[in-house]
Formats: sequence, C-alpha cells, structure tokens
Amino acid sequence: MNGKLIQTPDHWVDIERDWVTLDGKPLEKQELRYILLNKPKGYLTTYKDPENRPTVYDLIPGLGQFVGTVGRLDLDTSGLLLLTNDNALAEGMTNPVYKLEKTYLVKASTLLTDEQLTQLAKGVELSDGMTAPAIVKRDRDSEKYTFLEITIHEGRNRQVRRMVEAVGSKVLKLVRVRIGPLTLEGLQMGKWRDLEPAEVVKLRKLTRAKERS
Ligand code: URA
Repeated sequence: MNGKLIQTPDHWVDIERDWVTLDGKPLEKQELRYILLNKPKGYLTTYKDPENRPTVYDLIPGLGQFVGTVGRLDLDTSGLLLLTNDNALAEGMTNPVYKLEKTYLVKASTLLTDEQLTQLAKGVELSDGMTAPAIVKRDRDSEKYTFLEITIHEGRNRQVRRMVEAVGSKVLKLVRVRIGPLTLEGLQMGKWRDLEPAEVVKLRKLTRAKERS
C-alpha cells in the first residue's frame, strides 16, 4: 500500500487516497452493479452446475465483474431475480428483519376455495415452522385451475410451492413479479437491465443498507 508491503489482512485502506497494488498490479475500486433479470424457467440460480445445465449467469455474459444472486428462484420458477456485488444491500434484502415483500403469480393445480386462500393468508404449517401472514388474492378461476397472487416477506426454500402444497394443491406455474419496488415491467423474458439509481436508493431505504463510501 502506497509502496509499502502490508502483511496484516485487516489493514485499513482509504480507497480514495491510498494506492494499492497486488503482485505489482494496481487494485481498482469495483463499480457497484445491480442487475435485474427476468429469469426464464429452466435456468439454475447457481454459478456453476456440475451437470452443466444452463444457469442464470449464461443470461448475463460479459459483465466483466462478478455479481451474486440475491436469494434464488427454483429451476422451474421464472421472473425477477436481482444480482449484485453490493454485499451490504444483498444482506439487507435477504434479512428477514426488513420484511421485503415479494409477489408471485401462481397457477394452482386445482380450484382453490376461499377457505384455502384464507389459510394461505393466515399462515400454514411447513416442516420448518408456520409461515408469516401473506397477502393472497384470487386473480381468476378457469374450469380446473385457480390463478392467484401471493405476497410474502419471508424467503424460505421453495416457500410458495410448499405453502400451496400445505393446503392440498400444487403449483403448476410460478412467476415472481415484484421484489419491493422492483417489477417486471418492460423487461422481456431472458433479458436484464441495470437498476436505475433511484431504485437502488429505494432498496437501500427499505433495507437500511448503508451506501459504500
Ligand atoms: N417460492 C418457491 O416455491 N419457489 C421459488 O422459486 C420462489 C419462491
């Protein structure tokens, strides 16, 4: 650092003033990136699959920097997925304390009664405990299926699928259409965009994540 060898890993660096090299190469401050992806089904939310199946990273080639996924979507779930290298924000968004809302469109394998919807809204017993109250709306019924909208603020593994199973039905189709202030609007399936600065500010406010200095 500034031409001197530093051997203590917790040495404090002022990224604006200090000049740091590693193995003779200058280290640069990484630009923060916030990638909003409309994930199609059939893509894994993982960096590398041992079986070489497609992953969400195949949809954002050539970014030039690593961004991690904020939470995950199942292989068969489509919709909004955020990827970022802003670890503070990612931690805030997945911290249950901040109750960030996520909305899902669900096609259930059966017609659901009002009682079943009320049960989903009040909370159902899963193997890892009761679910918190959810906002549940019936969108429409077809002859055989109920289409509904579920908003939850927890992020347990396969939560929506397990909730629907807990009331005796199954999820045939699952799409995440909202994460807090972020929606799918204008984003085609398989496409991504950078967040607008105002969207990042909103997410920081909702999760109390401090801006990196
Ligand atoms: N709930 C699920 O069951 N699956 C997802 O991918 C997201 C939420």
